[in-house]
Amino acid sequence: MRRLASLLIIFLHVSHSTTSEDSISPWDPPGSTNFIGNFNGCLCREYTSIYATCYNPENCRRFPRNFRTDLNRFRLATTSVENITVADFDNLTNIEVLEIEANKDLKWIENGAFTNMINLKSLSISYNSNLQYLDEDVFEGLISLESLSIRQNSFDQVKNFSFSLKSRFMPNLRKLELIDLRCMTVDKDDFRNLNGSRLEEFNLIDSQVEYIHPEALLPLINLKVLNLGRTSLTHRF
Ligand SMILES: *[C@@H]1O[C@H](CO)[C@@H](O)[C@H](O)[C@H]1NC(C)=O
Ligand SMILES: *[C@@H]1O[C@H](CO)[C@@H](O)[C@H](O)[C@H]1NC(C)=O
Ligand SMILES: *[C@@H]1O[C@H](CO)[C@@H](O)[C@H](O)[C@H]1NC(C)=O
Ligand SMILES: *[C@@H]1O[C@H](CO)[C@@H](O)[C@H](O)[C@H]1NC(C)=O
Repeated sequence: MRRLASLLIIFLHVSHSTTSEDSISPWDPPGSTNFIGNFNGCLCREYTSIYATCYNPENCRRFPRNFRTDLNRFRLATTSVENITVADFDNLTNIEVLEIEANKDLKWIENGAFTNMINLKSLSISYNSNLQYLDEDVFEGLISLESLSIRQNSFDQVKNFSFSLKSRFMPNLRKLELIDLRCMTVDKDDFRNLNGSRLEEFNLIDSQVEYIHPEALLPLINLKVLNLGRTSLTHRF
């Protein structure tokens, strides 16, 4: 009888540890991890001394506004968040590295969403399969941003996001990575808002871009490294 009871306890323990709250996000590596809590349906964890992440493709529909962390890297990944709006990041202004990745329902990032992110140095907006557009003023306030990575998402044309790349809002931007874009051409004015930018490194790799207008990169007056590896470019310039 006692043996049965202890088996039962083991069974309960095992079944508990496989609930979604205890399982780890599919994108994250194994390691020392602490479950912090459920915020608006988003499951939030900290990987010791590395980063914090909130996820849950089913129930994380609204940004986990009450979540805070002392770590300086945050991933909002594999959620079903639709919109990122003003004040969503108000409890995360200490973050220096932010990754907004694989949020399948994300369609819209509101202008002003990043205005208080004055410590942010590195930002990735990638693999969000419904994100078709970034507004021209969306990156206002990213005064410390040095590195921006935009991978894949769902942009038809470069200008559906590229006007948001403004030297005025990101005066310290040094490195821009546009990777795995599904767009065919880069037009003359696509990067016009990077006029006077301090950008030094521009990686446009693994993309379907076939044509870059010869004057498209003229605004990048400080460019030192241009990497066009594995694009479909037919007309080099
Ligand atoms: C920040 O988190 C606290 C609780 O930790 C909450 O009361 C506050 O409303 C949050 N801020 C915003 C802008 O939601
Ligand atoms: C997201 O924003 C759009 C446009 O303002 C709005 O129509 C929609 O209801 C919002 N979705 C959520 C989940 O808040
Ligand atoms: C993308 O840009 C093209 C050309 O400016 C425009 O016609 C289209 O509506 C834009 N798509 C979105 C989702 O904004
Ligand atoms: C870029 O051009 C705009 C409009 O002409 C101007 O207001 C802005 O100061 C320029 N930015 C830089 C960094 O040169």
